[in-house]
Amino acid sequence: MPLCLSVRMSDIFNERFGKLMKIAIDGPAGAGKSTISKGAAKRLGFVYIDTGAMYRAIGLAAVRRGIDTADAEGVKSILDDVDVAIRHNENGQLIFLNGEDVSTDIRLPEISVAASNVAVIPEVRLKLVELQRKLAADTDVIMDGRDIGTYVLPDAELKIYLTASVEERANRRCRELKEKGVETDFDAVKADIEYRDKNDSGREFAPLKPADDSVYMDNTDMTLEESIDKVCELAQSRRVGNKV
Ligand code: DC
Repeated sequence: MPLCLSVRMSDIFNERFGKLMKIAIDGPAGAGKSTISKGAAKRLGFVYIDTGAMYRAIGLAAVRRGIDTADAEGVKSILDDVDVAIRHNENGQLIFLNGEDVSTDIRLPEISVAASNVAVIPEVRLKLVELQRKLAADTDVIMDGRDIGTYVLPDAELKIYLTASVEERANRRCRELKEKGVETDFDAVKADIEYRDKNDSGREFAPLKPADDSVYMDNTDMTLEESIDKVCELAQSRRVGNKV
């Protein structure tokens, strides 16, 4: 019988320590949270959950129904009819809105602002936080967002606040859009990021801010590989550190 040589890092962790691990990665738009989290999750053998996609799905639902996403009452009026679900395949996370795969539609630039607007509404957050906690309950997980370390998973073993200068974040977003063949205007992309920074950190309920026990990581001058290495190093030291 051939031996199976594919061993997940998380299996090694669990065999040694017998405990699931939660990693929370928060930070502003464009800091590279999802690419870094996805890369680290793959290396560690963890499940990656992108919570921004869930707020985007509700933003998309509102936009499709012609609701002004800044109108909290209007958004709340559709919440009971909106079902958001996550599935994973070999390429990562897929997001479904009332059974329809909207993984591509939620990435439209206008949905970024819609997501940030609906995320201010406590009823929206409470609906999604319930789903996020369920998804994280029985697996090793890297979850990224704005309030994961402070609100969704306050007991996460590792919390990282990932950020970069606003210019660098706007540059990265422009590069990403260009690669997809989308025309970009640096000033417009930067203004969109600044709007979301203010909206996401200025809201009353579960605003974007570093958790007191988070590791602050500014990756303005780091490559993607260096950022993934750093997250994996922290994950390993934290897991061992817990048991010493
Ligand atoms: O991570 P993202 O850019 O896809 O997120 C879109 C918006 O969703 C973001 O501007 C704020 C909101 N969001 C949030 O409020 N809390 C989260 N945990 C994740 C995203």
